[in-house]
Amino acid sequence: MEPVNNPNIPSTVSTPAEDHVNATNPTGMNNTALTKGKTIWSTSCIKCHASYHPNTRTMAEWKPILKTMTKKAKLNAEEIQHLDVFFEHFAKNEGWQ
Ligand code: HEC
Repeated sequence: MEPVNNPNIPSTVSTPAEDHVNATNPTGMNNTALTKGKTIWSTSCIKCHASYHPNTRTMAEWKPILKTMTKKAKLNAEEIQHLDVFFEHFAKNEGWQ
């Protein structure tokens, strides 16, 4: 397991409580996916424009955008899954930011 206070998580994002990170949930969230998702976001999602922080939108707002943008970024299925975990974790109103 990666430490919860992973320094790669952007400083504008608060560190999720450990019990949430470790919680079993339907998205299959875990620290590895979270860290990989963050890396994808901070590399692939800034190629064409400035980065849009996950907490600027709710997950409901993000879903259609991510559908388009993951295609633009040419992400594979696994990368999309990791990115989804990252966004679900840090999107607005997700309860643990
Ligand atoms: C190949 C270039 C490219 C890549 C890679 C890319 N985008 Fe975009 N993005 C665009 C363009 C062009 C627009 C503006 C026009 C549009 O909506 O198609 C945009 C717009 C956006 C918007 C604003 C949409 C709105 O309706 O307000 C968001 C948010 C966004 N991108 C997020 C992302 C994320 C997250 C990723 C990574 C998965 C990403 N983008 C990767 C080209 C890209």
